[in-house]
Amino acid sequence: MMKRTLLLATAIAFGAVTSIASAAGLPPLEQKDRYKVGFAQMESNNPWRIAETKSFHDTAESCGWDLIATDAAGSAAKQVADVDSMIAQGIDVLFLPPREEKPLIPAVKKAKAAGIPTFLVDRSVDPNAAKPGEDFVAFLGSDFIDQGKRVAEWTIENFKGDKGIIVQLEGTTGSSPANDRKKGFDDRIVQDERFEIVASQSGDFARDLGRQVMETLLQAHPDVNIVYAHNDEMAIGAIQALELAGRKPGEDVLVVSIDGTRDALQAIIDGKMGVTVESSPFFGPLACETMKRYTAGETIEPWVQVKDRIFTAANAPEHIDEAY
Ligand code: AHR
Repeated sequence: MMKRTLLLATAIAFGAVTSIASAAGLPPLEQKDRYKVGFAQMESNNPWRIAETKSFHDTAESCGWDLIATDAAGSAAKQVADVDSMIAQGIDVLFLPPREEKPLIPAVKKAKAAGIPTFLVDRSVDPNAAKPGEDFVAFLGSDFIDQGKRVAEWTIENFKGDKGIIVQLEGTTGSSPANDRKKGFDDRIVQDERFEIVASQSGDFARDLGRQVMETLLQAHPDVNIVYAHNDEMAIGAIQALELAGRKPGEDVLVVSIDGTRDALQAIIDGKMGVTVESSPFFGPLACETMKRYTAGETIEPWVQVKDRIFTAANAPEHIDEAY
């Protein structure tokens, strides 16, 4: 509960200093007691997604939402179809975490054409094809470029060896967090000549695929001593692959990641992982607050930004009980 309130408070505080976009042309949303709300989840294959969906369900009653929640099971095409179905059911407002940046653009545009205000949550779409304040109301989420940069900076400060041989496990190809977490990390790490990224491959943000990709990359690059995973699930999969190969994560391989899941915090406490930069899934309260501001006639800033903490051996024990 403390963590959810923190996400809401930091986002609101940050929003106060963010530039305001014109809401001209966006569908209006009247003030009333109850709203038919669509939440079109992309998949439920990891603790982060499950926590995000639960956060919407947990917020529904207090925010007056009659919630229609779907699960696209990892298919962008199904996520588009789920939004179509919600439009046909007459939702008042749509909350959408687009699985990938481009394939969900038609869904965003169809919702607008149907007069339904849309808020993108946690992931965004290609800004050249759909824009906040025009095609959708706003993007609610973290700065993924900054997350990648912070992982790189922590690695530069804490890696003890002479030469860092890095394997990168990327998230879902074409998704905003995979694109941005790669950019943030690569741009920063390249500035220190001690480090070299020898391989960068997608594990689709999934634990088992992360393990499989790491197994393959270990054969091609047995000298790897740093693994950067775009999320904790792939980091845990990589730790499994490293241990199976007789390596010692935390001793001969530094594992660094993003999210802040319970398993990652435990891996940090166990000495197998170095750092995870937070990416909070608890969007329900922020979605409610932002929707209410919109119904009150406020122009919503294009990016309602969430600020993220960082978890290391220094603070993981005090946060593990609030993790998911
Ligand atoms: O969009 C956020 C990312 O998506 C999280 O890091 C990951 O765990 C999830 O699947």
